[in-house]
Amino acid sequence: MSKCLDALLERRRSVRQYTDEALSRETLESLIAAAIQAPSASNRQPWRFLVVCDAKVRGELADLVEAAAARVGEHVSKPFSAAYEDYRKYFVHFREAPAVIVPLYRDAEILGRMVGPTVAPQDRASIELMESRTGIVSTALAVENLLLKATELGLGTSMMTGPLVAEAALRERLDVKASWHILAFVAVGVPAETPNPTVRKEVAQVIRWVE
Ligand SMILES: Cc1cc2nc3c(=O)[nH]c(=O)nc-3n(C[C@H](O)[C@H](O)[C@H](O)COP(=O)(O)O)c2cc1C
Repeated sequence: MSKCLDALLERRRSVRQYTDEALSRETLESLIAAAIQAPSASNRQPWRFLVVCDAKVRGELADLVEAAAARVGEHVSKPFSAAYEDYRKYFVHFREAPAVIVPLYRDAEILGRMVGPTVAPQDRASIELMESRTGIVSTALAVENLLLKATELGLGTSMMTGPLVAEAALRERLDVKASWHILAFVAVGVPAETPNPTVRKEVAQVIRWVE
């Protein structure tokens, strides 16, 4: 790994506070250009990127997430109440970001279409599992490219799946067609905070050599 990439990886942090500075279309397009360099299963590029810069729309989206989080909160058991109140704040800070990118993904059916009805149920299940992963994995790789490109440009990003607590309502407001799924929200802006480095497990803790 080049020193340059090492430095970029270390510099990327989840940033959750931004200045009011708007981001240009060119800047946002350069993030998407980096994203779409990612590998994808059979090069299907099963992604789309919604870009929300309008504060009113962002507010509406955040309101939908707040409403869903409040609804869910009514069913959080007492010992978790305080933890949940803290946790749900992490679902909506995109409200204040100058831009929110919403990556969408869709699944591809390739092998599933090639095999006939005689394939063993276990193999059918494996094929379905495999093909249900391709869109989400490909698009997640694209998002990492986007995060790193933003870091290189001096921007802060926050990759969030918390907003998906309101998935159905967000899908409707964003007019997401049935074959597409919301992967996450990515808030982007000029950082107004410098988060501390976050802890990582040691390589030895996360690796298993298979013999
Ligand atoms: C799949 C995924 C979902 C995440 N969802 C949220 C979220 O909803 N809200 C949030 O504030 N951060 C979210 N994060 C950011 C993580 O909390 C963060 O990456 C982690 O604490 C490590 O910190 P770092 O990004 O600064 O290295 C998410 C990250 C990932 C990869």
